[in-house]
Amino acid sequence: MKYSPTYVDSVVSDAFRKYSSSSDAQIEHALLQETILKFLPSDKTLPILDAGCGTGWLARELSRRGYAVSACDLSPDFIATLKKNFPQIPASIADLSQNLSYSPNYFASVILNMVGHDLKDLSLSLKNLQIITRFDGKLILTIANPYYSYPVGRWKRGLLGRLLFRKPILKLLSYNFFQKNERLHLWNKTIPSYFYTLPEYIQSALKAGYSLENFEEITAPNDSSKFDRQYQLYRFPMILLLVFKKNS
Ligand SMILES: C[S@@+](CC[C@H](N)C(=O)[O-])C[C@H]1O[C@@H](n2cnc3c(N)ncnc32)[C@H](O)[C@@H]1O
Repeated sequence: MKYSPTYVDSVVSDAFRKYSSSSDAQIEHALLQETILKFLPSDKTLPILDAGCGTGWLARELSRRGYAVSACDLSPDFIATLKKNFPQIPASIADLSQNLSYSPNYFASVILNMVGHDLKDLSLSLKNLQIITRFDGKLILTIANPYYSYPVGRWKRGLLGRLLFRKPILKLLSYNFFQKNERLHLWNKTIPSYFYTLPEYIQSALKAGYSLENFEEITAPNDSSKFDRQYQLYRFPMILLLVFKKNS
């Protein structure tokens, strides 16, 4: 299998940009935004970082709501577009696995929104984010639920299902297989992603110097008549939210 290296490859960033503007992504964004907003500081002047901001949809929404949000990403392409379209948002190219150029103990909240599975070195990235989080500041982590999301969970429709126009159902492959074997997978046949278990996400954050404060399953409150992201999120908690506090 040929893997494109990372989001710095335009094939990968274009594929993600396309997904990010899809109706499924809008459904997901609305749920993520609603959940993340609950955990942001009431004082909007406190600095927030959208780390691994991608196309910058979340930074844009937070900025519109008056939060002092900065954004960073590995992809020069995403950052260039964000700077062009939203010059009011301080945005920079950054690899989370390298030393970050922000001041230590600076951000009241660091948001890592659906980025964990893209990080080759999760532990090191969380350590670097911990350094720039202020004491008692938060790491807001949303992740694709490893128990139900790709590569363990795959929405499939068999021959009978296709003949009867049934909607796909979620098939679960061996979770332990992915934990013990190949970690790297191609999401949507294009985007490289790493399989981490839920304990690995939690342990990496604890070892980086955070404490777990909150844990929520993100689900859609209403069903959908179509087979779309809302249909999936109504049936399974496909996304998890974990909020950590930096240890003092
Ligand atoms: C699945 S996208 C999510 C983007 C955005 N947070 C969102 O919710 O749409 C993952 C993002 O992480 C970025 N990324 C991957 N590895 C990174 C790294 N080592 N440092 C910084 N960003 C990284 C990618 O460029 C991509 O924009």
